[in-house]
Amino acid sequence: MSEQLGVVILAAGEGTRMRSRYPKVLHRLAGKSLLGRVIESALQLDPARVVVVYGHAGEQVRQAIGNPALFWVEQVERLGTGHAVQLALPALAEMDRILVLYGDVPLVCERTLHALIAAQCDEDLALLTVELEDPHGYGRIVRDQHDHVAAIVEQKDANPIQLSIREVNTGILAASGRALARWLGEIDNNNAQREYYLTDIVALAVRDGVQVHAIQPESSCEVAGINDREQLAALERRYQQQQASALMRAGVTLRDPARFDLRGELQHGVDVEIDVNVILEGRVVLGDGVRIAANCVIRDSEIEAGAEILAHSLIEEAVVGRGARVGPFARLRPQTRLAERVHVGNFVEVKNSAIGPDSKVNHLSYIGDSEIGARVNVGAGTITCNYDGANKHRTVIGDDAFIGSDSQLVAPVTVGSGATIGAGSTITRDAPEGELTLCRASEQRTVLGWQRPVKRRE
Ligand code: UD1
Ligand code: CA
Repeated sequence: MSEQLGVVILAAGEGTRMRSRYPKVLHRLAGKSLLGRVIESALQLDPARVVVVYGHAGEQVRQAIGNPALFWVEQVERLGTGHAVQLALPALAEMDRILVLYGDVPLVCERTLHALIAAQCDEDLALLTVELEDPHGYGRIVRDQHDHVAAIVEQKDANPIQLSIREVNTGILAASGRALARWLGEIDNNNAQREYYLTDIVALAVRDGVQVHAIQPESSCEVAGINDREQLAALERRYQQQQASALMRAGVTLRDPARFDLRGELQHGVDVEIDVNVILEGRVVLGDGVRIAANCVIRDSEIEAGAEILAHSLIEEAVVGRGARVGPFARLRPQTRLAERVHVGNFVEVKNSAIGPDSKVNHLSYIGDSEIGARVNVGAGTITCNYDGANKHRTVIGDDAFIGSDSQLVAPVTVGSGATIGAGSTITRDAPEGELTLCRASEQRTVLGWQRPVKRRE
């Protein structure tokens, strides 16, 4: 049988320094919760079991994470990291190997964790350590005269020589399940913080004559923990810069990588250009040669090759066809599908509608629950009145129709192919194809000799 891997994620900290109503591990980094990211990394290792040790606001955390495959263990009293892992052990009894992760260390990579696990064999212990310019606050890695790891000493228990050590414990480690259970049974809280330190197992491992391996991550971002909102913002920025660099290396033009945010996954073609202050969320696909102008927000959408999104547009759960042009100041809401070369202009809102090839909705319109054919021109200020106060109804407009400006199409209604709607009409019944249909309150009249009011003199 293959080795069983168990993962324990420590997340019982209160996170008081966040000064938040929400548990710290539910705060987001690049669009995903801190804990959600750690769980994702853990699941990439294909573990037999993942246990989350929670304390504060457990129910809220469980609900937000919502993964039924996880095991949850409550730590009522925070007696230390060693105590927290001990509480998880019953749920990990069958596991050959146990990996300890932290709910507030969100960016640890699959590759680094694989290296850590690979270093841990038999009863060996594998620690993830990192050299820091400023090691203050961290547990220091104490090595013997052969440069082997001998112990971890916490900041508050360290002597001046130990305090000068710059290699620190990230907290992340891999151990054999059996040895871990044995060592945890032996640790006490005889230290400055009166806590059961997980780190004390290192000295016990050394005593038992097993090897302690120290593995380093590729980037220090991977092991950065979040305690307050400043650290959260700083790590977000570093992460965004890494993503931006990777995108530029892959051929995406970013006008300013410091003013670009990707909160999800971007799939892109060649020669995509993104101007400043663009936010991409969820799953976004940008085809070859797509251009996104400044200050656009695009979420869970696909923009096909050659399409152009002009400044200040908001696009959510929409598909924009090849060579289409959207914006400036356009809003595409969920279930919008624009075909090839469609133009949607300023102050136009489109929702749950399909617009056919070469059609134009250029100014100040609301298109909701509609099906619009090819080569249709929708004049300025056109409104589909899709909602009667109780239900939503559909508007259907055939190919080559022309909707005059300032028209209201009261759904359910169909405008036939090639039909023309006179400007200013309120259309409540179907308009036949090929004909001019219009509806105005009265015929135009002129009041001869009418005088404009004159401003009174005080
Ligand atoms: C711990 C390590 C230290 C390391 C540092 C890295 C110990 C004794 N020390 O110190 O060597 O350099 O992390 O950041 O392990 N937690 C629980 N239950 C508890 C205590 C902690 O779930 O009873 C969780 C916290 O939510 C947090 C993590 O464990 O995610 C670390 O706890 P924290 O109190 O921050 O440990 P440090 O003192 O920073
Ligand atoms: Ca900490």
